[in-house]
Amino acid sequence: MSTAAPVICLDGPSGVGKGTICLAIAKRLGWHILDSGSLYRITALQVSRLFPGTNVISINVQQLADIANNLSICYRCENDELSVFLNDENITQLIRGEEIGAKASQVAAIPEVRKALLDRQRAFLQPPGLIADGRDMGTVVFPDAVLKIYLTATPEERANRRYKQLKDKGIGVNLAALVEELRLRDERDMNRQAAPLRPATDAIIIDTTTLDIEQVTNEVMYWVNQRISH
Ligand code: C5P
Repeated sequence: MSTAAPVICLDGPSGVGKGTICLAIAKRLGWHILDSGSLYRITALQVSRLFPGTNVISINVQQLADIANNLSICYRCENDELSVFLNDENITQLIRGEEIGAKASQVAAIPEVRKALLDRQRAFLQPPGLIADGRDMGTVVFPDAVLKIYLTATPEERANRRYKQLKDKGIGVNLAALVEELRLRDERDMNRQAAPLRPATDAIIIDTTTLDIEQVTNEVMYWVNQRISH
């Protein structure tokens, strides 16, 4: 890991658009991306494959940490999309569903799992720089980041965005169920003991409820230009 490379943290709740903004900023800067949520989603997928039909809370935490520790993951950025491979299997679509998202939020509440994924996340920091997307990028993973942004939006607006995103990808969902699922996930992510979702004390908070992707990207770029010479 190079400590010389700068990090920008982009934290916030589910469905706020972090992934889209991250890709846009990374493209403008030519920097690397860490989609930390995907690591929890991949862990959840592997858990559901190894323990089919088993509730996460009834699985031994050390077994869960071992799964997180031993994931063989590879990312490829093609045509403005980040593709994820687990043991050479393209699982990009497989991990995007709401069921895996909910399971990811359950495994993410387990401190041993978070610890197992910490070094893997920090290893993404390579020159010329990293944009890290998640819940605890600014509070836990990269506390010395040069810029910390926390994106928010109302649950209804986030559910709407997620609905459109999933529909575009051909994944069928019910909007009311999505709002409820987001609320549950927010509650779990904000109230867990281990690295709860909250803005770092030195984060810049941007409410994106009434902003489009370009407006949010420009706002983030304003702060990037204030803090980083590139
Ligand atoms: O961002 P995404 O929706 O892919 O994340 C899935 C779940 O992973 C979140 O609901 C959250 O519980 C967990 N997560 C986390 N810490 C991160 C990123 C994601 O706990 N840094």
